[in-house]
Amino acid sequence: MEHITIIGTGYIGLVTGTCLAEFGNNVICVDIDHEKINALHQGIIPIYEPGLHELVLNNVEQKRLSFSTDIAASIKQSTLIFIAVNTPMAHDGTADITAVKQAAKTIAQNLNEQKIVCIRSTVPVGTHAVVDKIINGSQNNFHASIVSIPEFLREGSAIHDFCNPDRIIIGTQSHDAYEILKKLFLKTNCLSENIVHVDNACAETIKYVSNSFLALKVSFINEIAQFCDTIGVDVYDVAHGTGLDKRIGNQFLRPGPGFGGSCFPKDVIALLKMAENAGIDLKTIRATLEINEQQKQFVVKKLKNFFNGTIRNKVITILGLAFKANTDDIRQTPALSIIKELQQAHCIIKVYDPQAMPNMKQEITDILYCNDAYQAAQDADALLILTEWKEFAELNFETIAQIMKQKNILDTRNILNISTLKKLNFTVETIGRNCKANLSYFYPSVAPIFKTL
Ligand code: UGA
Repeated sequence: MEHITIIGTGYIGLVTGTCLAEFGNNVICVDIDHEKINALHQGIIPIYEPGLHELVLNNVEQKRLSFSTDIAASIKQSTLIFIAVNTPMAHDGTADITAVKQAAKTIAQNLNEQKIVCIRSTVPVGTHAVVDKIINGSQNNFHASIVSIPEFLREGSAIHDFCNPDRIIIGTQSHDAYEILKKLFLKTNCLSENIVHVDNACAETIKYVSNSFLALKVSFINEIAQFCDTIGVDVYDVAHGTGLDKRIGNQFLRPGPGFGGSCFPKDVIALLKMAENAGIDLKTIRATLEINEQQKQFVVKKLKNFFNGTIRNKVITILGLAFKANTDDIRQTPALSIIKELQQAHCIIKVYDPQAMPNMKQEITDILYCNDAYQAAQDADALLILTEWKEFAELNFETIAQIMKQKNILDTRNILNISTLKKLNFTVETIGRNCKANLSYFYPSVAPIFKTL
């Protein structure tokens, strides 16, 4: 059992702390935000993450997990300290590590014995050296081993991902620190051979490369979806057939309205900037971002197609505001840019999301927030699915067919049954599943073939 302090009770910190407590460790999650810590004391979780609430309550009850604003006292009681504060994007696209440096200073001021400091936040390559200098460069009698241990969990499935990681990357110069961290994370279902020991800079790089490669996969399939859409080939069949090749893999090949969230957009830009500073132009990474912007335009263009380009004054229903399902997070969500585009085109916008509306209300006020999907669909000229919430697939479309003004649906996440919708006389659009095969692009003599999806 380890005594652990987690600095920062945001997404990463709270999930990491709670799961480490679940593994039997004694964990204190600390934060400078008194309101957040007070709420956690009352059992109120600041984010929506399936399963997290129960896990927090259970570990608090078992006295393995506690919350505090007394960062100094917590540091003194712990041998393992995780820095899990946020590293938002600065104006120039680089990651802002102010909070990481502040956490390191607090650790330096309270170093009362040898400790291990783990950097869990996503930080630019080289940040471990900055943290090392702050903590070990001061006049301290004690030394801290600095470990770079990036997290790879996804919002919406964070607890599952924490407990079942494909790999654990432990970046450190210290063999002892590596062994302690390895033992700690062997409690997860990670294969022992997939616990990888590298140096700190390599661990920091792996995090950016992983997120950028996944984002690249999404942009790649989104671009291929545009191609498939035009020639009338089903992109989902293409992705399936291609992804079965183990060298390619079938994950992160789902087309959609573009990637969003607090990680991909920020980390891809940060990698581009880091490379730029090193005199390298990462062209695939640049294209990843460009295609992501283009994809949102593509969604708006498809929507306009319902009305032969004239979308002014049309009532558009948007189902889904979160950047993906099972989260209330709207950071960099495609919905934000798409709503702004539609507002500029003078549409009337009605929205519904099961979790993300309170967050969106803080960003956009001049749209109609509805109590459910049916209220949102009432009198609409088109319905646009932007998030793959399961409840949207289970809606009664017979009812929706009756209450919409015009029966147009654009499903950007491929969650609806197209043939059912067609039977109800909906005009259905998708991303990359155009039912009109048009091979005449390649063989002008071949007539278009119509398929039934
Ligand atoms: C991502 C990574 O997947 C995690 O491994 C990483 O730990 C995390 O960032 C982080 O750095 O903290 P997350 O942002 O929670 O996790 O979300 P993802 O599930 O990766 O999805 C990112 C975006 O890509 C979403 O907008 C999603 O809708 C989109 N996406 C994903 C697609 O459009 N298609 C896909 O096939 C997969």
